[in-house]
Amino acid sequence: MAVRTPFLAGNWKMNLDHLQAVAFVQKLNWSLKDASHENGTVEVGIFPPFTDLRSVQTLIDADRIAFSLGAQDVSVHDRGAYTGEVSGEFLAKLRVTYVIVGHSERREYHHESDDIVAEKVRAALRHGLVPVVCVGETAEDLEEFGASAVPVAQLEKALAGVPADADIVVAYEPVWAIGSGQAATPDQAQEVCAKLREVVAATMGEDAAARTRILYGGSVKSGNIASYMREPDVDGALVGGASIVVDEFSAIIRYQKHVGV
Ligand code: PGA
Repeated sequence: MAVRTPFLAGNWKMNLDHLQAVAFVQKLNWSLKDASHENGTVEVGIFPPFTDLRSVQTLIDADRIAFSLGAQDVSVHDRGAYTGEVSGEFLAKLRVTYVIVGHSERREYHHESDDIVAEKVRAALRHGLVPVVCVGETAEDLEEFGASAVPVAQLEKALAGVPADADIVVAYEPVWAIGSGQAATPDQAQEVCAKLREVVAATMGEDAAARTRILYGGSVKSGNIASYMREPDVDGALVGGASIVVDEFSAIIRYQKHVGV
């Protein structure tokens, strides 16, 4: 069976400028060192705003910090007259590894449809970036269709035509749980993540399903991370608010030390 390295990903959203970003990454690294965190037991991902990427990448390279770098969005286009857009080609040149695609804030505030999300998945893969494909139901969806129907349908559309050997990450983020302090229960996260793994199996095959990491996101904190990580189909977390607080994100990354707390 494929071993899936746990992935703790910090989605900073529109927080921390490039100077604050450098200070934050240094502090987080020191905090992990102070706590004798062993690099390699989990993967740590940092997803800062576009304007921070160059500074963070330079710092990670120079100090050999074991964090992966991600962006929060990518254009469906590669280059050209698309004012304000950022190409996957440019992100790849900055040695960005991951890109968040289809976050509910982009779906809601920027009207990103399932078709656009699918195009962004392809744009990321075209440039060797790993898309972190976000899916999740709103409170109304939950009431009307239950927890899994909408995320399953969103993922089916996002992965249509994606080759079996593509490297992707999936994030289940119930919209009602994001930034609300009202996290899903571990049981619910497990149930939906298991269904999403079935979607990966149906669209990309069993091997892809076995190796693809599926994250839970929505009000993850140091106090609840361990309860999600005990679930067999939850391979990590996409963390918003708690990822820009050094002590919190550091404790989330070290969840293996406080399993059972
Ligand atoms: P939150 O955000 O951890 O602040 O709930 C999660 C996300 O939007 O990725």
